[in-house]
Amino acid sequence: MSNAPEPFALAGEAAAALAERTGVPSHDVVLVLGSGWAATADDLGEIVADVPLDELPGFPAPTVLGHRNSALSVRVGDTNALVLGGRVHLYEGHPAATVVHGVRTAIAAGCGVVVLTNAAGGLNPDWLVGQPVLLSDQLNLTGASPMAGPAPPSDRPIRFTDLTEAYSSRLRAIALDVDPTLPEGVYAGLLGGAFETPAEIRMMAGFGADLVGMSTVLETIAARHLGVEVLGISLVTNAAAGMGDANLDHEEVLAAAATAGPRMLALLRGVLELL
Ligand code: HPA
Repeated sequence: MSNAPEPFALAGEAAAALAERTGVPSHDVVLVLGSGWAATADDLGEIVADVPLDELPGFPAPTVLGHRNSALSVRVGDTNALVLGGRVHLYEGHPAATVVHGVRTAIAAGCGVVVLTNAAGGLNPDWLVGQPVLLSDQLNLTGASPMAGPAPPSDRPIRFTDLTEAYSSRLRAIALDVDPTLPEGVYAGLLGGAFETPAEIRMMAGFGADLVGMSTVLETIAARHLGVEVLGISLVTNAAAGMGDANLDHEEVLAAAATAGPRMLALLRGVLELL
């Protein structure tokens, strides 16, 4: 056995620290902001508290450009939203338990809805850069799982989580009320660290993927394990490798996300208001 802290106990500690540091005893919904989405945090509602993420137990500082080191408590109507301005990834060398720690902490803090956002490459040629897409399902191609390792503690559900409805159709219907033009797609989550080759993208198209990225899938599994509903939204920041005429780079991903900022903000605020 390693002497790493037990992940669910660590999430409980982080939730207690969050309540103390924000002065908000419980949150209702968590938003995890992916690459380039961080700017939306400032205008979602009334910012009640802003806590540096890495001052909470178990949270490393996000290192990837486009992510921000803050946990915001934001009041939107009657909802207490917890907004995690950044996430950490497997490709940074973190274990699955650390990658899903934000989601487990938010659930320990009371959140009954998890909204996961990301930047993704698009495999559907009809989607332009800047298109938000609702996730209908996922392919976890990371080779990792938050349900691998020591069994969950006895006061938690067992590990064999049902993923038949990984992404909530109820929450997707709410997002469609806000923007009826939103398309849906299957998100393939990879270990990442490098972008894909065109051959890998053709393989994933054959697997049924519409979007490709380096996050989200483990967080969704961790939330479903605890019985919490998930809304996933990708922002298409580029055509997947070999599908467009350009080479891929992270600057391009961030620039596309910045341009789409106002549309993303309106969508997230609309969803929070209808929850
Ligand atoms: N591939 C993987 N991750 C990504 C991409 C991509 O094309 N775009 C944004 N994140």
